[in-house]
This record gives sequence, structure tokens and C-alpha cells, in this order.
Amino acid sequence: MIFDTHAHYDDDAFDEDREELIKAILESDIKRIVNVGANLKTSQNSIDLANKYDLFYAAVGVHPDDCDEVDDAGIEKLREMSREKRVVAIGEIGLDYYWHKDNPDIQKNAFKRQIELAKELSLPIIVHSREAARDTMDILTETNAGVNSGVVHCFSYSPEIALEAIKLGFYVGVGGVVTFKNAKKLKETVERIPLEKIVLETDCPYLAPVPFRAKRNSSLYLEYVVEEIAMLKQTDPETVKEITYKNALDMYKLS
Ligand code: NI
Repeated sequence: MIFDTHAHYDDDAFDEDREELIKAILESDIKRIVNVGANLKTSQNSIDLANKYDLFYAAVGVHPDDCDEVDDAGIEKLREMSREKRVVAIGEIGLDYYWHKDNPDIQKNAFKRQIELAKELSLPIIVHSREAARDTMDILTETNAGVNSGVVHCFSYSPEIALEAIKLGFYVGVGGVVTFKNAKKLKETVERIPLEKIVLETDCPYLAPVPFRAKRNSSLYLEYVVEEIAMLKQTDPETVKEITYKNALDMYKLS
């Protein structure tokens, strides 16, 4: 069984064949998916998807792209949405200095406010962090953000940062990138951290694994990610599936 801990099936890229694709997923080894919000609208979309299909759970949160939404009203809206029973996490939230270098203080403030909300609600967080390793780790540390667990999704930093995040209570999200030839750092991270701290994710429609690189991604392709991780950990794909599935259940406090 496979747990896709991070997906965006409300994305336009799935408008043409969403129903058919979900049908195919239901017949596959993919048993649970968390659809992740990136702003107030896609957070609501995630809840709608989770209310429609048992396969899905929802995460609600505002990505650094839309950090202007995180004012008093935005936080109240997220608090309200998080009361929905299919909501399992706050995310995705974090810092992105790759796409947005100009407003670090606004990003940090939005990140911290959503961490506080997650702590108030005792929910895990889904962290998006790109080219912002030190600031991210400082905020996660000073706010004790891992107290209810969580994940550093689409992990792109060094093995040392991964170990630091694990110490704070986080899992490491690994997806299609691990299959890329040039992903040396991520392959090394996977080798060095315990399998018990890895969760699988697609971030679909983005980041499809080889041999579908640059095409539309879906949970069905997680088989390729499982194979790569099994090779790196010198174990078999079934073990990778079994352990990462249990990790995801623990992280999202599902049974
Ligand atoms: Ni995402």
C-alpha cells in the first residue's frame, strides 16, 4: 500500500480526466492521498475533494506565493476550515527565496502565524522550503514547530539539514526528484536518514519521476520513487511501501 502525502488534484492540469484518473488510482496500490492547499481557495478545494472521495484527506494552508492572505481574516478562515473532519494538517506553509527574494519578513510572519495556528489545533505542518534552509530551520526550532509532527516536503537540502529536521520531530518528504540523475544530494540524504523518517509524495501535477520527467505527475508514478528508494536503502520495494505508509499514518495521526 502507498500513501501519497502531498498532492494537488484540484489543479487545472487534472480538469480533463480527474474522475478517470481517480478511478485508476482506486484500483492501484495507492490507498490514501493528502490533497494540500496552497492558498485559501485551494485549501477549500482540498476539503471539497476529501468530502467527495474517501481516498483523500485535506491540508489547509497558505504557501509563500500567497503570503499576503495571511492576515487576521486569513488566519480565522484557516481556523474555520481546519474544523472540517477530513483536515489532517496545516500546509503547505514556509519560505521560498527562490521565487520570492523580495519579501522575507512577510513570508516569515505568515509562516510563524500558521505554525502557531497548527500548535493551537494540535495539527502537524507541511513545510515548503526552497533556498531558505537556515531561516526555515531557525523558525522551526524557535517555535518548536515539530511538537505535533510534520514534514519538510520535497526535501532539497543537505543530509545534515534532514537530520536536524528529524531531531525536531519532522519527516522528510521524498518524491519524483529522487529518480533524477543529477539529484545527488537527495540520493545521499535518502541513504543517510532512517527509512522510518521518510514519507512518499508526488506534489503532482509537478515533479514526475523518470521516465516521465517534465510530464504531468500522478500518484500512480510513485512506484518509480519506491523503486529508487529501495535501491538506495538496499531493501525491497514492499518494505519501502510498508514502512513509509506507516510513517504517513503516524505523521498525520490516522489509524
Ligand atoms: Ni505542493
